[in-house]
Amino acid sequence: MPSLRALTSLLLLACSALGALPPPPPPPPSPPPFGIVPPSRQGTPHPFATGTVPNTNAIAIAQTVPKVHQKSGPSAAAVPNAQGIVPPTVVTAMDGKVMNPNTTVAAVAGSTIDAAGIAKRDATKDFTKLFDGLPADQHDGAIEGTAYLTYTLVPNSTYNVAACLAWCETVDGCVFVNLFYEFNNFLLDFVFSEKSNLKCAAYGDIHNATEKTNFGGQPSYPQVGNETVPLTFITQSSGYAANALVNPATPDGYEFVFGPTNGANNAPGYMGFAFIDRYDVTACAQLCNGRGVDPVGGGCSYFNIWRALVDGVPTTYTCAMYYLASNASTAVNTGQGSLAVTFSRGYARKNLVIDGGFEGFAACAATSFCFAQSYVNWIGSSFVNGTVGHQDTTVFRFAPYAHFGVGSALFGAAAGDDAHAGVLTPARRLCTQPGAKYIIQNFFISSFSGSALEAHAKVDVLWNGKRVGGTSGFVQDYTFFQSDIVVGTGSDALSFVGGAAPAWTFLDDVKVFKV
Ligand SMILES: *[C@@H]1O[C@H](CO)[C@@H](O)[C@H](O)[C@H]1NC(C)=O
Ligand SMILES: *[C@@H]1O[C@H](CO)[C@@H](O)[C@H](O)[C@H]1NC(C)=O
Ligand SMILES: *[C@@H]1O[C@H](CO)[C@@H](O)[C@H](O)[C@H]1NC(C)=O
Ligand SMILES: *[C@@H]1O[C@H](CO)[C@@H](O)[C@H](O)[C@H]1NC(C)=O
Ligand SMILES: *[C@@H]1O[C@H](CO)[C@@H](O)[C@H](O)[C@H]1NC(C)=O
Ligand SMILES: *[C@@H]1O[C@H](CO)[C@@H](O)[C@H](O)[C@H]1NC(C)=O
Repeated sequence: MPSLRALTSLLLLACSALGALPPPPPPPPSPPPFGIVPPSRQGTPHPFATGTVPNTNAIAIAQTVPKVHQKSGPSAAAVPNAQGIVPPTVVTAMDGKVMNPNTTVAAVAGSTIDAAGIAKRDATKDFTKLFDGLPADQHDGAIEGTAYLTYTLVPNSTYNVAACLAWCETVDGCVFVNLFYEFNNFLLDFVFSEKSNLKCAAYGDIHNATEKTNFGGQPSYPQVGNETVPLTFITQSSGYAANALVNPATPDGYEFVFGPTNGANNAPGYMGFAFIDRYDVTACAQLCNGRGVDPVGGGCSYFNIWRALVDGVPTTYTCAMYYLASNASTAVNTGQGSLAVTFSRGYARKNLVIDGGFEGFAACAATSFCFAQSYVNWIGSSFVNGTVGHQDTTVFRFAPYAHFGVGSALFGAAAGDDAHAGVLTPARRLCTQPGAKYIIQNFFISSFSGSALEAHAKVDVLWNGKRVGGTSGFVQDYTFFQSDIVVGTGSDALSFVGGAAPAWTFLDDVKVFKV
């Protein structure tokens, strides 16, 4: 027999174990003193509503594509931007509604993700010429395409491709440039200090010669007497692409799940979508973090970003949000009609709690019924404040008690044979980043024995022993709960304490997310 010390050290993995006390020997079970069948004997809970779990609404997304106009390029009056500082990503539509053109992601999400936590992009890019300009003596067109970022003027003593590509390397997200001369632009000829008419426009997506739709034709020079004002025109408009779309950095607090593929997720737990003006994975993460809570499913846990092509032309960038994590197995929507899905990637919000849904407790078949005080991912104890009860916290495998799936946790003696509280903790401390902020989300229900017996139901949520939230009183249906913001120390103890049968509380879908 291994000693208790040896057993404890076995648990000291990763962020180390809590060193929970071993459960005390159980007293002999006695029948519950109330006229209801307790959870331990598979009693029927007070009826509760489960709500519907919607799937991706691909039709609503497709119907919104023609309503947004994300194609642009440098206007005749735009000021050059040699530093290459790119304006913030803009949300062009949200859940089918077209937004004001100045709606930034930060304005919608209410916060930003700290860019310091994001790995730098790979700046090494080789470029391929996608199309040449027309001969110098012919009028040409400049690109008007999606994900226009900014432009600069490069010295025009030669057709300076090298200067344009070198500048693109310095522009965050630049994967394509359109280089062209613009004539009869008063600002270029007399006002801007560069004294050059050779424009280099940076894009966050790749465009084709078929997208040359800006032919100039605007008056720019001032009117002098009755002289005809010359109109602007474009010549020698060429396009160069980085050899691959930039490999996007995984946003802080997320993990990469799949992609890039030509299939968008068609998955359950869908919360809605946003269109953004460029392929910006971090902006999508920010929208997911800032998304309101779904009463049935809770907070956003997963997003799918993809590029929409219409007749082969990049048109918009979709960010679809979910409260249930998905993966490549549901990335099956390749588009419809003229709409094609490209560069589809999935990212899941990192949950620091292992098996927060209690689905890993598998002591019986999923269609069967079983319960236990502890299993590999969670430790339940009946030892609270010096009192020793009997199975005061337990984990169940029984779909009728669960929020999602078949697993859930119970507070209050499973057999109803005492009225003591129990404690439930993850088997391992949480591997947080010291100083980073987190939020605890979960679902509670306190209705098993009906409103009168549940009136004194109570479970507290503790972070390193300090109360950061909880539930109390009768709660009819599984209800979303969110803690106060907590700060990580690098190895943190989460625990749930409470229950006093017959005021039972069930817990499910525990998540600890970085905010
Ligand atoms: C955005 O543009 C709208 C008009 O399109 C204007 O009413 C609003 O004030 C602008 N908001 C900001 C923050 O600039
Ligand atoms: C360079 O641009 C300046 C400003 O537009 C223009 O005056 C000049 O003619 C251009 N030179 C060449 C060689 O195109
Ligand atoms: C680019 O445009 C040409 C026609 O100018 C077309 O044949 C080609 O398929 C397009 N390429 C892409 C990648 O859309
Ligand atoms: C412009 O005006 C001048 C006199 O102010 C006149 O001599 C000339 O014919 C006019 N030119 C045109 C094209 O109307
Ligand atoms: C994808 O998700 C499904 C459903 O959650 C799961 O059964 C499957 O194992 C997952 N596949 C991968 C590759 O993770
Ligand atoms: C344990 O004791 C403390 C201090 O008396 C009290 O605040 C807390 O509510 C008790 N916890 C339970 C679960 O009874």
